[in-house]
Amino acid sequence: MTDCQADGSGNMTAMDLYESLTSQGELVRTLKTEKAVKADIDAAVKLLLKLKADYKQVTGQDYKAGCPPLESTVLEDTGPAAAVDGEDMVDPWNVSTTSAKGVDYDKLIVRFGSSKVDQELVDRIERVSGKKPHRFLRRGIFFSHRDMHQVLDAYEKNKSFYLYTGRGPSSEAMHVGHLIPFIFTKWLQDTFDIPLVIQLTDDEKYLWKDLSLEDCHRYAVENAKDIIACGFDVNKTFIFSDLDYMGASPDFYRNVVKIQKHVTFNQVKGIFGFGDSDCIGKIAFPAIQAAPSFSNSFPQIFKGRKDIQCLIPCAIDQDPYFRMTRDVAPRIGYPKPALLHSTFFPALQGAQTKMSASDANSSIFLTDTPKQIKNKVNKHAFSGGKDTIEEHRKYGGNPDVDVSFMYLTFFLEDDEQLDKIRQDYASGALLTGELKKRLIDTLQPMITAHQERRKQVTEEMVLKFMTPRPLDFNF
Ligand code: TRP
Repeated sequence: MTDCQADGSGNMTAMDLYESLTSQGELVRTLKTEKAVKADIDAAVKLLLKLKADYKQVTGQDYKAGCPPLESTVLEDTGPAAAVDGEDMVDPWNVSTTSAKGVDYDKLIVRFGSSKVDQELVDRIERVSGKKPHRFLRRGIFFSHRDMHQVLDAYEKNKSFYLYTGRGPSSEAMHVGHLIPFIFTKWLQDTFDIPLVIQLTDDEKYLWKDLSLEDCHRYAVENAKDIIACGFDVNKTFIFSDLDYMGASPDFYRNVVKIQKHVTFNQVKGIFGFGDSDCIGKIAFPAIQAAPSFSNSFPQIFKGRKDIQCLIPCAIDQDPYFRMTRDVAPRIGYPKPALLHSTFFPALQGAQTKMSASDANSSIFLTDTPKQIKNKVNKHAFSGGKDTIEEHRKYGGNPDVDVSFMYLTFFLEDDEQLDKIRQDYASGALLTGELKKRLIDTLQPMITAHQERRKQVTEEMVLKFMTPRPLDFNF
């Protein structure tokens, strides 16, 4: 009745099960509309339910008509892109939660099938690198990973790797949250002394937003200046605009096409939720974000080698792209990229949402003056303090929902100071105004220093960073 094929090992693959389920579903519908005998319908329904249970066991997902599994389905690489888990919703374009503490990241790890950055991994990074782990690792800001242990295993055997990260240049204005992946990537580059490629997806922003191609390209170059101001070494770093590099690099484009051939429309629909009226540029774009994960996309750096391991530091909302990438990689003969995922940087108004570059009061911008920083923090930073000083002294504040405290966990380097602030705030010894002042005193010099470094970035430097060229590494 059903034409179920088994794979060589006698097990049904996810795709076989999916196809069996689809035809079994049709059979049940036909039997019902044709008013077949009840025993036949019951038998068909029973088989359908069994197939559904098998499918869930193999893929970790519920069967959904019209959404086939990724081909080489293994539990680790499945899970829907949009994790709608009670209150939280995360995909590359939306992040929302109704909890003031922000997204429940432990749940996200389970939903996305990634692994937790636990103390053991942090200790191991310290052992292998001989450096004190970055505060983002110590404080669970880079909280999730894929294959980090494998990267370290290889590194210990003198096998190098490279870093890949990126940014979608949707405006000239970058805020402090945008710096998180770059601050961390800079630390990884210094710590492991490895090449770095940074993709500026001006093509993506053109496809998704109401912007002209030239504006997107201009934002890419402007954003590159802020990225360079984070301190990257020009001899170890290649920054590229998709609009420029796609046309200039035959090897990059060959990888894009290879990836495109191995991902179906159904798969990207399942991962990204594209619909019939999305333009075809969007549907093809995930292959362009995937391609830098493979070292032979950069022959000038890796001398054509395709086997250099890639590590991608990024915010967790980018994971769907790289789940797709990891699924395709073995099928086109490349290693899977490893990942380190960060939490989101909260908006000043609270951890319920990601910040918006279009709302000037939702964040601290890299162009803000010391006075603007002070006003924004004092006026807009959501407080976990009590309404009156008396109450606050008596009951204490709640640092877990307090945005000023959250920002300090991102930017205050000293662990002991941070811990003392937390305790004093929770006990009521520290008032909200005082906590805000600590944050203002931390942010003002940090942003001023960034602005000074950015001023030093000349057009020539940008051009050099963005020119395809060999880097200071021998592959
Ligand atoms: N899509 C990302 C954005 O909109 C940009 C990006 C491209 C990226 N490649 C990446 C981010 C790799 C992290 C890692 O911001």
